[in-house]
This record gives sequence, structure tokens and C-alpha cells, in this order.
Amino acid sequence: MSETPIDSSKRTWLIASGCAGAVGGVATAVPFVSTFQPSEKAKAAGAAVEVDISDLKPGEKVTVEWRGKPVWIIKRTPEQLAALPSLDAQLADPKSERKQSELTPEYARNEARSIKPEILVAVGICTHLGCSPSDKFVPGAQPSLPNDWKGGFLCPCHGSTFDMAGRVFKNKPAPDNLEVPPHMYLSETKLLIGEDKKA
Ligand code: FES
Repeated sequence: MSETPIDSSKRTWLIASGCAGAVGGVATAVPFVSTFQPSEKAKAAGAAVEVDISDLKPGEKVTVEWRGKPVWIIKRTPEQLAALPSLDAQLADPKSERKQSELTPEYARNEARSIKPEILVAVGICTHLGCSPSDKFVPGAQPSLPNDWKGGFLCPCHGSTFDMAGRVFKNKPAPDNLEVPPHMYLSETKLLIGEDKKA
């Protein structure tokens, strides 16, 4: 591939991050690293996507596309994070331990379902029949939600509700928490969606 010696783990990282030209020869040997972001074709094939979250403020969400799916990145407020433990008894699988959660990466099998507590990365597709849940970040009583609502998501199709960690409430049609895709931090403010250290 190249005369430049590269150990395989480093090479994987370079391919995954789309780090164009960082090591001479690799960029030409692997076509989709020739631009900063993967090409449309590579994205469709599942290439990882880099996201700069330096502008994301507490309470905000950005959506990126990975493998044709919407991936939400949400910066939770201290209040939203503080509410999570109080909800455990109302949730179907608060620690993402059920068999259905087999795909939940190890680093997301915690209450916040995330690597950094404040940043949630989740696939925005309901685990029931695939609708896209709506943001219901504002706490308090409102249509289709309980009076003590602490913020989260409501799936408009059949009423499944999820908390601010994408954890599904009990006795809802959705059988599982929202999927957490493989992801990792390339720096303090740069996320890579679709690859993690084990890749
Ligand atoms: S698709 Fe979300 S509740 Fe049915």
C-alpha cells in the first residue's frame, strides 16, 4: 500500500477519520480519504463521519447522517443530567443491560448512555417501527406526556417516550432504548461517528 511504515491500528484510525494526506500514500491507496468528509458513495457504504461540536451549546442538538440514518448529538444541560437517575424506576432498561441492548457499546452502558456525561450520541429512530421521535426537551405537563415530564423525546407514531439519554419508558410500544452508534472522540470537540477504538 505504501512504503511508509504504519501499524495497523494507526492505519485504521486514519482511514476512519478521513485524515487526508496525513501519511503519504495512504490517501491515494484508499480513495475515500481524499477529502475531509467521506464522499457520498462512501457515506452510503457506512464510512465514519467526523463532527465538530465546538459550537454546540447546552440544550442544543445537531443531527448528522451516518449510514443513511439520523444521528443526534445533544449537549445536555446540568439539569437534564441531574434528572436522569430519578427516572430509573420508570424505565424499561435504565442501564442498557437487556439482551436487546447487546449492540449498545460498552462505554454507553451507563445512566447517561454516553462517553462524556453531557454529550449524548444516539440514532434518532424509534425502536418500535422506525419513526423519528420528536424533541420534547421542555419539562412539565404537555399533550401526550406525563405531568412530571423531565424532558426527552416523544415518538408521534404510537406514543413511545424516551428520556434525555434515549432510554425508553416502561409499557411503551418501543421495545428498547434508542441505539447508540459506535463513536469516539478525536479531540475535545471532534467526534467520529461510526467507529470506535475497537474498530
Ligand atoms: S414507531 Fe415509535 S412508537 Fe411506534
